[in-house]
Amino acid sequence: MNEVIWLTQLSFPALIDTLVERIEALLDEPHGTRIALAGGRTPRALLQQLRASGAPLHTLTLVPTDERWVSVHDAQSNEGMFRRELVAPLEAALQPRLVSLKTTAATPAEAVSEVARRLDLAVPGDFELTLLGMGADGHVASLFPGPPMTLGAIGDAPPRNTRGRARRWTSASCIAAVQPETGQPRLSLSLSRLLRTRALALLINGADKRRVLQAALADPIGELPVAQLLRSAQARGLNPAVYWTADESMELA
Ligand code: 6PG
Repeated sequence: MNEVIWLTQLSFPALIDTLVERIEALLDEPHGTRIALAGGRTPRALLQQLRASGAPLHTLTLVPTDERWVSVHDAQSNEGMFRRELVAPLEAALQPRLVSLKTTAATPAEAVSEVARRLDLAVPGDFELTLLGMGADGHVASLFPGPPMTLGAIGDAPPRNTRGRARRWTSASCIAAVQPETGQPRLSLSLSRLLRTRALALLINGADKRRVLQAALADPIGELPVAQLLRSAQARGLNPAVYWTADESMELA
């Protein structure tokens, strides 16, 4: 990476306060505010504090960076978590708009083109902020380590997934992927779509993830998704904010 990327270390409560302040500062955008937000445990406390902040969230369009191919009522669903922690408890007039990455298609590969269209209609331009977490294997969103699969034609039946190797099907803004450990089908925003943003922030927690990140930062040609993300971000003139908290739990209470 051509520039030094600084790691900001914060206590977990201070990290959440910082992120809420960053988001609140974006909410007076004249055309509304569009944020791509990570799934997993990372954003849960942020959503809770954002809800409690009383900020005018009705101008916010929120897009999960990726989705597990489960019902929105499933505890694994990122959209379900966004709805439970942020949208549902707010009165209708104050609720943000949530763009769903889930469809009725049996597999993400069959949904990629519909979700790409839905996303492009909801967020035709750049995000104001892309806020990502990172897995212990260096994945971001559902962009997992391993060679991408070039899509023949959208909707082709994806090849059998070789257990333990991520397989991907791509379109311009979305890809279908498989979580390598669990085999869980995923739909993810592509790297290029995640980087169509005015600001990028990466949140990591715990010593293990910090070691993975530092190894990725130290390897200028590394192929880990987090390394590709940060390198591509810099190439686009983005100065990614990387926040680290020692708190493994990512829970406020
Ligand atoms: C997901 C995410 C994923 C997540 C990281 C970190 O759907 O799981 O989008 O990329 O951000 O795996 O997950 P935790 O926050 O649970 O540690």
